[in-house]
Amino acid sequence: MSSSPISILSQTDFNGDPLDPELLRRTFGQLMEEHGYVLMVNVPDDFDQVKFCRSLGAFVPNYTGAVVGDVRPEPGMDDVYHAGNTRPLTPHTEGYDFTVVPPRYIALWCVAPASGPGGETTLADTAPWVAALSDDERKYLLDTEFEWKTTEGVNRLGLDLHTKHPILEEHDDGLIVRFSCNNLKRAEDDPVVPVQQRWRDAFYDHQIAVDYHRNDMLVWNNWRLLHARNAFTDRSRHLRRIQVAG
Ligand SMILES: [Fe+2]
Repeated sequence: MSSSPISILSQTDFNGDPLDPELLRRTFGQLMEEHGYVLMVNVPDDFDQVKFCRSLGAFVPNYTGAVVGDVRPEPGMDDVYHAGNTRPLTPHTEGYDFTVVPPRYIALWCVAPASGPGGETTLADTAPWVAALSDDERKYLLDTEFEWKTTEGVNRLGLDLHTKHPILEEHDDGLIVRFSCNNLKRAEDDPVVPVQQRWRDAFYDHQIAVDYHRNDMLVWNNWRLLHARNAFTDRSRHLRRIQVAG
């Protein structure tokens, strides 16, 4: 089950003219604060996504070192859990496999949408789930350093990352949530297992699904929202991606 995004910002105004850049930034900030994500639509071909992302904070390079990464099916990657194929991705946050704090913002924009069904980026806000934790659960998620590993796809790129972080971390700029369905190492009887299952179920109950048109740009707060992806069939689907420290 999924619903349509409601935090949508048009880069053109009611007359079809470009929105004033200062107004664009201000409305973007208000929508981001309220919803934790913004889908920008009516994006002109000459929009400078890199410049816009630079206004949000410092760039965090992708795994390959490329600041602007490509998300599209890659040869020889169809058999692993990896963004570079056509398979689904389960709910997660980005950057739990970094030793530093995860990127605050992730931006994805659409170079070529997938024709046919699937390929949506899906998002859900953890804020109500965090608020609903019992005191004991919250303390456990704040105090327990879990081991995290990276995805099979990133392993195949030659990176074998292992980190230790709590799921919840208090930071001067807000609470950081780290989450993965498959790369959080824990015993089957660990108290985190029911929380993981609950949040995964809540994700699929409350997700919004972004069905991209060409040039659409999605930005979300990766400290607060989980994201995932629906499988697709069109191998020409192509997104670009930037991570921002914030
Ligand atoms: Fe991701």
